[in-house]
Amino acid sequence: FDTVDLIRTKRSGEPLGTAEIDWLVDAYTRGYVEDPQMAAMAMAIFLNGMERREIKDLTLAMIASGERMSFGSLGKTTVDKHSTGGVGDKITLPLAPLVASFGVAVPQLSGRGLGHTGGTLDKLESIPGWQASITNDRMLSILSDVGAVICAAGSGLAPADKKLYALRDITGTVECIPLIASSIMSKKIAEGTGALVLDVKFGSGAFMPSYEASRELAQTMVDLGNDAGVATSALLTDMEVPLGGTIGNALEVRESAEVLAGGGPSDVVDLTIALATEMLTLAGLPDADPAAALADGRAMDTWRRMISAQGGDPDAPLPAAREQHVVRAPSSGVLATQEALPFGIAAWRLGAGRARAQDPVQAGAGIELHVKPGDTVAEGQPLWTLHTDEAARFERALESLEGAWSIGGSAEERGPIVRDRIS
Ligand code: URA
Repeated sequence: FDTVDLIRTKRSGEPLGTAEIDWLVDAYTRGYVEDPQMAAMAMAIFLNGMERREIKDLTLAMIASGERMSFGSLGKTTVDKHSTGGVGDKITLPLAPLVASFGVAVPQLSGRGLGHTGGTLDKLESIPGWQASITNDRMLSILSDVGAVICAAGSGLAPADKKLYALRDITGTVECIPLIASSIMSKKIAEGTGALVLDVKFGSGAFMPSYEASRELAQTMVDLGNDAGVATSALLTDMEVPLGGTIGNALEVRESAEVLAGGGPSDVVDLTIALATEMLTLAGLPDADPAAALADGRAMDTWRRMISAQGGDPDAPLPAAREQHVVRAPSSGVLATQEALPFGIAAWRLGAGRARAQDPVQAGAGIELHVKPGDTVAEGQPLWTLHTDEAARFERALESLEGAWSIGGSAEERGPIVRDRIS
């Protein structure tokens, strides 16, 4: 095939054939198709979309670009969760051990954060000694003994996606349903999980803010998974407001441990239980009671074993940032609004996130939210505590919080955190 012809086809809004997509992805992975050509193709897809058959072909071609893992030797049902990312989204931390405490294997290949959404591995790395990178053999043995493992995905899974995602990131072509769906699902299908639950976010802190677009993304991914033989369902969940009471790496680990100890903020608990119920249902255990496993310590036991298995000390004190700044209520009333995205950006500016893939993150940086929308506040009461190792970062973080919250007479009614289920 001629690369420029294929770009012209997509530029004019025509679909690409299966053999054309296979060739393009393979040639791009090998370096024959060059980055500027693939960038033009990504923009043509961004502008003109793809048919369902093309999205499936693209997903399969990206899977074929690398290795496929298999958990067949475990003799246990495997089920994984993927979130499209949000502000304060630490749910994987309590969820993986919770689901594993029912005897289901949870292989959770995770990533690092980029931009305002945090990465699960960055959070866990704030636990002294914990290692994200393990071999496939070690992963299988932890899955067999403990049941849950959260680790870095090896570079062998869907290398075409890795290259394409990095290119999309610098060419304004990330926010495109066919490209997002094929990117996420190629990795999840190649990972070899038997079942998959997607937590698709909508609202200010989600990277698909509109409800309708999130719904379409969820349906596209659910169809791709089920077509590929992975039992897949999705929950559409609210990301207008930060999740829970903390944003930032060690701060979110602390909150996750509270949930595993039977406490924690109600939105985090509700979402953890909803996703656990969905995962356990796909794994053939629709009557399992995840709330009971949080209350009686089973989930906490699995968490402790999961952290220890990767060198972490579950009892070690978590790192704390050197500097703190408290924002107080300027007047009395009700916290009316709290917009997720600016809070995510503020935490990122405090050092909880990174601007470039190679940048380090601060383990202790982030924001504690002392109040949530609907809470009554008195003048002078602490609203948020900002944490960072470098006091110079407070100014820019405070700038992004300007206009991000308000105190008024009442707060808008929020619906339940889980707005819909797609299967
Ligand atoms: N996460 C991914 O893995 N891929 C995307 O395209 C977007 C989010």
